[in-house]
Amino acid sequence: MSLLDRMTLEEKIGQMTQLTLGAVIDSARLREAIVTRHVGSILNVVDTALTLDGWHALIRRIQDIATKDTRLGMPILYGIDFVHGANYTRGGTIFPHNIGMAATFDPDLVREAAEVTAREALASGLPWNFAPVLDVGRQPLWPRFYETFGEDPYLAARLGEAAVTGMQSSGRVAATMKHYLGYSAPRTGWDRTPAALTERDVREHFLPPFRAAAAAGADAVMLNSGDIDGMPVHASRRWVTDVLRGELGFKGVIVTDYADVTFLHTRHHVAPTMRDAVRLAINAGIDMCMTPDNYEFADELLALVRDGTIPEHRIDESVRRILNLKTKLGLLSHPYPDDAAQAEFATDASRRVAQRAARASITLLKNDGHVLPLQKSARVFLTGPGATSLTMLNGGWTYTWQGTDASHFPDAPTLRDALRRRVQLVESPAEADVAVVVLGEDAYAEWVGDIDDLTLPEPQLALAKSVEGKGVPTVLVLLEGRPRIIRDVADGAKGIVMAYWPGMRGAEAIADVLLGDVNPSGRLPFTYPRYPNALILDDHRFTEILSRGFDRKPDAFYPQFAFGTGLSYTTFAYRDLRVDGLTVRVTVTNTGTRQGRDAVLLFTHQHYASLAPAVRRLARFTTVDLVPGESRVVTFTLSRETLSYVGQDGRPVFEAGAFDAMVGDLTTTFTVGP
Ligand code: BGC
Repeated sequence: MSLLDRMTLEEKIGQMTQLTLGAVIDSARLREAIVTRHVGSILNVVDTALTLDGWHALIRRIQDIATKDTRLGMPILYGIDFVHGANYTRGGTIFPHNIGMAATFDPDLVREAAEVTAREALASGLPWNFAPVLDVGRQPLWPRFYETFGEDPYLAARLGEAAVTGMQSSGRVAATMKHYLGYSAPRTGWDRTPAALTERDVREHFLPPFRAAAAAGADAVMLNSGDIDGMPVHASRRWVTDVLRGELGFKGVIVTDYADVTFLHTRHHVAPTMRDAVRLAINAGIDMCMTPDNYEFADELLALVRDGTIPEHRIDESVRRILNLKTKLGLLSHPYPDDAAQAEFATDASRRVAQRAARASITLLKNDGHVLPLQKSARVFLTGPGATSLTMLNGGWTYTWQGTDASHFPDAPTLRDALRRRVQLVESPAEADVAVVVLGEDAYAEWVGDIDDLTLPEPQLALAKSVEGKGVPTVLVLLEGRPRIIRDVADGAKGIVMAYWPGMRGAEAIADVLLGDVNPSGRLPFTYPRYPNALILDDHRFTEILSRGFDRKPDAFYPQFAFGTGLSYTTFAYRDLRVDGLTVRVTVTNTGTRQGRDAVLLFTHQHYASLAPAVRRLARFTTVDLVPGESRVVTFTLSRETLSYVGQDGRPVFEAGAFDAMVGDLTTTFTVGP
């Protein structure tokens, strides 16, 4: 008899129930959850990261009960949000947040970082990671923008599949693509509020990373807490079963987000009772409910099966997937943390990957008159809230959920510490050769970071203005999870360095770039807006940017910095852009005096299509490392699929005709026949 056949209905429903640690931290409650209620999964931390030993003791305690004191001995599947490294284990390696990882345009580096994260998860005894975030960052106000790989669906898809592949490479840690679908586009920008998206928009801009990660074999998915056009995704049979399972062929476990089934009743008001909420979610196709702290889901689901509303074979389908995942991860034979795996935690090698990632993410947005790199002998006036803050380097989800308590951080330098060792810091702009003003956002996570105004807070703008007004060349360093508007201080600055939230090796990496020990190579993975009301994305249509004059030319696109912006201390030139069939070639030359890395971005544009085409879309990218004078021919292969767009019926359409291929300032036209 199979395991599933031996399970009672209550045991099966228990497997579909996930509780947060805080609800079961007390021993009696833990025993009740596992033994009496047959709970199959637990998640999260209580307030702060645990030590490695703390995790081991906790997981042992949990698995002891699950394997020894229950009828079937089924181990618990423990889930955790390691969204930028092992951020819930003390001393865990902290990478740049995804927005910075995206700036590297380097899928190999993203994969390596995910491998490190998985090793440290396993070392902690945690086999299920709620990452990567594959929401596409097309609403810069959204407080989870920094968790995304930026605004471009193709970039997010390539990096998302790399993250899944890396995270799951050992076969012992499951990745979770989240949050399917449309979560990142709330109309107001506030977290967990409705997205007003058309079907085409969803498919063109938000679905591709999930499609790619599902194809890469992601073991799990977490659903969006919000709604698309009035339909909460976790109640939508169409999005969950027809599209995710049917079209994307996703075979893994579908978990709902925190309390979301309850919210169908209490927030969305699409379910008059909790029982209706459970029925809707189950019929939509969920496998597991992050309840996260009660048994209402389990009780109502039991009642729904008992009264025949939901057939037991529907429950079996979900439980089979959950058991398969537990089996695949080796939990049935190895439910306990592996002591040997501890050696894989916070190693020098892992820290070096974090350092490489931080360095590669840093994006030089402006460098007038070569104000950077700084002379090693320069006298530097360093100021701004980010100069002495560790939390502004690491952002949300760092040893605590909000990331605002640096007392839990391992020893790491602030930017002031990192610079003090390498240049002469002076006390006033009058004594300085250059001023470095470190601005941005302190850490936040989820709705706690909701804002009503994308503009950088006034006191910070005033600080930058006053320093710029002293006549000393000024460099702004931005530590921020989303592009806060800096229009009033950008022109007065000679240099602008975007560091995102670069993680535990961030301060040294910024110092390396400021001093020229590292040649910056990051590229902006989103459009940096100049005005809070002009949030126009890179792949807009011509009609989105019609100017106000009578002739209404499509020229009203003036972001602060365009998608893909990123300067270097050397220069690169492109020539000989040619398209032959679907093969695109371009020659890149390092025309400067330093070795450097260039991200080569290929965009395409269809001249005419039945539905208004985008002015450009990212079609391919790669990076090349070149010494001065060196040239490389970069070859990209396009496909009809890349040149397709989503038609009115929601399906991809390819229309023959003329296209542009664009790399840097070069454009060449080519035609593709039917
Ligand atoms: C977040 C998820 C996270 C979950 C568990 C939710 O509030 O939206 O991203 O995985 O909490 O911590």
